[in-house]
Amino acid sequence: MNESQRLWRRAEDVIAGGVNSPARSFRPMGGDAPVFIRAAHGGRFEDVDGRSYVEFLGAFGPNIVGHGHPLVLERVAGQLRDGALFGAPCPGEVEFAEGLRSAIPELEQVRLVSSGTEAVMSAIRLARAATGRDLIVKFDGNYHGHADAVLVNTGSGAATAGGGHDSAGVPHGVRQDVRSLPFNDLQVLERLFAEEGGRVAAVLIEPISGNMGMVGPEDGYLAGVSELAHRHGALVIDDEVIVGFRMRYGIIGPQLGLKPDLICLGKAIGGGLALGAYGGGRHLMRLVAPLGPMFQAGTLAGNPLSVAAGLATLEILRAEDVYPRLDAMGERLADGVAAAARAAGVPTSITRYGSMFTLFFRPEPPRNYLEAQDHDHRAFQRFFWAMLEQGVYLAPSPYEAWIVTLGHTDDDIALGIAAAEGAFAQVTREA
Ligand SMILES: Cc1ncc(COP(=O)(O)O)c(C=O)c1O
Repeated sequence: MNESQRLWRRAEDVIAGGVNSPARSFRPMGGDAPVFIRAAHGGRFEDVDGRSYVEFLGAFGPNIVGHGHPLVLERVAGQLRDGALFGAPCPGEVEFAEGLRSAIPELEQVRLVSSGTEAVMSAIRLARAATGRDLIVKFDGNYHGHADAVLVNTGSGAATAGGGHDSAGVPHGVRQDVRSLPFNDLQVLERLFAEEGGRVAAVLIEPISGNMGMVGPEDGYLAGVSELAHRHGALVIDDEVIVGFRMRYGIIGPQLGLKPDLICLGKAIGGGLALGAYGGGRHLMRLVAPLGPMFQAGTLAGNPLSVAAGLATLEILRAEDVYPRLDAMGERLADGVAAAARAAGVPTSITRYGSMFTLFFRPEPPRNYLEAQDHDHRAFQRFFWAMLEQGVYLAPSPYEAWIVTLGHTDDDIALGIAAAEGAFAQVTREA
């Protein structure tokens, strides 16, 4: 038994399901003990048994600058010496909020929170407070965190874990105030607005879905969603927790036609520390306590340590060549993986947006969650294990993305492609 397996025995005994987030479990891959990671540097993991992996997990999104970036280290260590948490205002939170606003014109005011879940949960409450309506419209296969209202037909970890993609324990009453519709289908949305438009507080959407695998909006879709919502007096909540600051310095929704009223951020803005944000126009944000009647709070919200990491991250991401570099690396890796699949004769498709892409074990890229679910799960499982065996750590789910960071080197990308060549050969041998 190796050290990961020993730790797994203890974890299974003391932690529910052995993991602190289901997305980390290897169970959906038909496995048992996951690999326990001891350290991470640049684009690499080292496990507790001393094995090294190139990792394209990106910590499920937060890792964009690479593990142990010197600037993040310096700022976080410096802040730690000066105190991790005050429970009183600190200069960093102001500077960070200004940094977000300068990148996102729609964000006149923000609130900093500690996770994407909190950002979305708070934005929903604010949309309900602002409109005096209850109904939230979301899209099948989008994932917005684990608040009650958004665990209806959800993507990501909940989809991978199976069980109907809804969570037990969500009250019936909460479900009545949520509608989940197919992504990329304006007609269904139009019908919903025709029937229940006057009840809709907000349409909540990932402009590019990162949680049913990467699935992008078709031309005109996001503009159509925004137009319908606004025509019926509903708000648009742009959930950019996973794609914000990942595709460009700022958000991507408006570039693709979305007209957001509220924006949710998380993951990449925090440089690996717990940091999320929601915000929008002043007329909405002034409804938040202590000025307004909508309550939202947080002991850890905007803490000095997280904002120090966030400020360092924004500074790194502001450099001119960052996004072209990430994009070029993403393209090289995705092209190499696609070529390897073709050479092995494995039917796959790749959907790539900058430094994130999903390899689907189906010949056509999916348009929505229904199509994304129609893939060769067994082939993905075999591929996952073969990659791990060759020293490449991927997310243990067909609904996640491969993520490239500034910490990856040319060698890491080459190793990823070489491993994929071997893994596809194994997939065909075992088929
Ligand atoms: C689009 C989106 N929204 C919200 C969340 C929830 O964020 P967190 O896991 O930080 O609570 C996620 C996490 O995967 C996400 O991808």
